[in-house]
Amino acid sequence: MAGHRAIVSASILDSDLSNLSRECRKALKAGSDRIHLDVMDGHFVPNITFGPAIIKRLRKIGKQPFDAHLMISEPGRYMDQFIDAGCDSITFHVEVEEPIEPTLLKIRKAGRLAGLAIKPATPLSALDPYRDLLDIIMVMTVEPGFGGQKFMADVARKIDPAHQVFRDRPGERPSRREVHVDGGANRDTAEYCGGLGVDVLVAGSTLWKKGADIEQEIKLIKSLADKGYRHRRPAGEPSKKHTAGEAE
Ligand code: DX5
Ligand code: ZN
Repeated sequence: MAGHRAIVSASILDSDLSNLSRECRKALKAGSDRIHLDVMDGHFVPNITFGPAIIKRLRKIGKQPFDAHLMISEPGRYMDQFIDAGCDSITFHVEVEEPIEPTLLKIRKAGRLAGLAIKPATPLSALDPYRDLLDIIMVMTVEPGFGGQKFMADVARKIDPAHQVFRDRPGERPSRREVHVDGGANRDTAEYCGGLGVDVLVAGSTLWKKGADIEQEIKLIKSLADKGYRHRRPAGEPSKKHTAGEAE
């Protein structure tokens, strides 16, 4: 099958949490390129999910990439555990109130991809101090905490300029330079995000809703994102038709 430019990372937040390994396998078999793991501490966001111990056990399903998205107030305190759990990429929030650089350095030193996520109201300029330490920028198009929220199309406009944030630190390995969109990515919004040049679409509730054909959904999201990318404006503006691509 022809490769896609955009890839899907399936968020298991809204899957059957009583059988996570089965749900991860299901998503991967259906064509998800990665698993997106939403870690919430009930403090940084008003919800609690799972932590590194669960992720470590889920690693038994195979070698497919695990993207951890940490919505926790103290990522530095727990970073060794997430590295030990076998996360391939670890993204935490630029809004945390603790030093960010040492934690990014620790992730990179461990050979994992290091990322920062930004909430809808946070400007991209908040990432400037860390631009030469970033492999991933995760643009949140919903308020972090819950799946199934409405996609914020205006906020998604950060996707295109986010690509300009990356910069390599002399003497260090080049960054991977991935821009992820997280929140409300689905068949209605994928083409719009593709037009903005998104690399990874995090798909959550759309995959797990009753009656969804998960394979079909993933295929559609990737194809539509690719279509959006092919038709993008030179300046990165999405085509008119899809600026209205917000979820109804
Ligand atoms: C929300 C999480 C998302 C969520 C996405 O805080 O970070 O990863 O699972 O779910 P949907 O796709 O339903 O917006
Ligand atoms: Zn997430």
